[in-house]
Amino acid sequence: MNGEAAQKMAVDPPVRKVNPFANTGKKITMEKPWLEKYRPKKLIDVCGNRETVERLKVLAKHGNMPNLILAGPPGTGKTTSIHCLAMEMLGDSYKNAVLEMNASDDRGIEVVRNKIKGFAKRKVALPQGRHKIIILDEADSMTPSAQQALRRTMELNSSTTRFALACNISSKIIEPIQSRCAILRYTRLPQLEILKRVKQVMQFENIVNYTEDGLEAILFVAEGDMRTALNALQSTYAGFERITHETVFKVCDQPHPKTLASILELCAEHQFRKAYTLMRKILNEGYSTIDVVQTLFRVMKFMEVIEEKKKLQWIRDLGNCHMGNAEGLDSHLQIYGLLARFCQHDRPVR
Ligand SMILES: Nc1ncnc2c1ncn2[C@@H]1O[C@H](COP(=O)(O)OP(=O)(O)O)[C@@H](O)[C@H]1O
Ligand SMILES: [Mg+2]
Repeated sequence: MNGEAAQKMAVDPPVRKVNPFANTGKKITMEKPWLEKYRPKKLIDVCGNRETVERLKVLAKHGNMPNLILAGPPGTGKTTSIHCLAMEMLGDSYKNAVLEMNASDDRGIEVVRNKIKGFAKRKVALPQGRHKIIILDEADSMTPSAQQALRRTMELNSSTTRFALACNISSKIIEPIQSRCAILRYTRLPQLEILKRVKQVMQFENIVNYTEDGLEAILFVAEGDMRTALNALQSTYAGFERITHETVFKVCDQPHPKTLASILELCAEHQFRKAYTLMRKILNEGYSTIDVVQTLFRVMKFMEVIEEKKKLQWIRDLGNCHMGNAEGLDSHLQIYGLLARFCQHDRPVR
């Protein structure tokens, strides 16, 4: 829900039967986001990406950190890992010896020249053999010219300062900077890791009112992103005080995978009319075609009742439809056409 909608709800009487974001007076609404509350403080607590985290642990132990680029999808622990690394390496000097700049700060050429240079020149008491650290979070949002301004600065100050860049896509970092850095890659977190962490948080928060399929729903919406998982957990609990399949999908506002699965099953049985009726309901609820296409793909992947050959045919159809969506063909008709194509494969001749 966007801010505007939330504001409207605060003024008008709630339209929906249950309003997960209404201020119910529970203490939970005043709480710190669990994301921050449970942000790991030490590298050992960072889940998943074991090899990468092991390498960081070695760096933390020896202290001679090279310039680093951490690249990977959102919510996998890049920012967290860099801060843990800096804390473990610098100990009490962490506050003075780390400069963090992220996408919300101005990072044009001038700032890079002045602020970073100023910081690199500053004298700070450091443990033996350690360096000051400049963290450039979301570095792929820096303009190429600002990145250009960085390359020489990196070299000139290498005796006192090291850089750690975090980004989603490493190819958006200009080549000369890539070649000055060791690149560490993060991948989406396995479901098991997310489940472990979600369960830990639930234990700390004394959440007992949950079902297994509620947890499954959280893993489904998270798609390997721990930030989404913890957010989904907190907002569902804040709104409904229980974690079930239904409550999670009410809060996360995605087309319900169970309905999509039944639509696909109907298509496998060549029952276009029934599939169409169900799909029309979903689209009338206001989901965008791109949401539907993407969720269809994820649902399809996990459906065991559909044979492999059919799945491959369907994925090709989905791909074509997705391409059409991206080019602007995003009417409901596209989705109905997609269903018709799904139904057509291996249709018995009458
Ligand atoms: N690997 C992880 N282990 C534990 N918690 C994580 C992990 N990745 C993300 N989180 C949680 O998600 C939040 C956001 O993580 P962050 O490191 O900022 O992600 P990003 O990779 O987008 O920089 C953290 O506050 C933390 O609570
Ligand atoms: Mg980050």
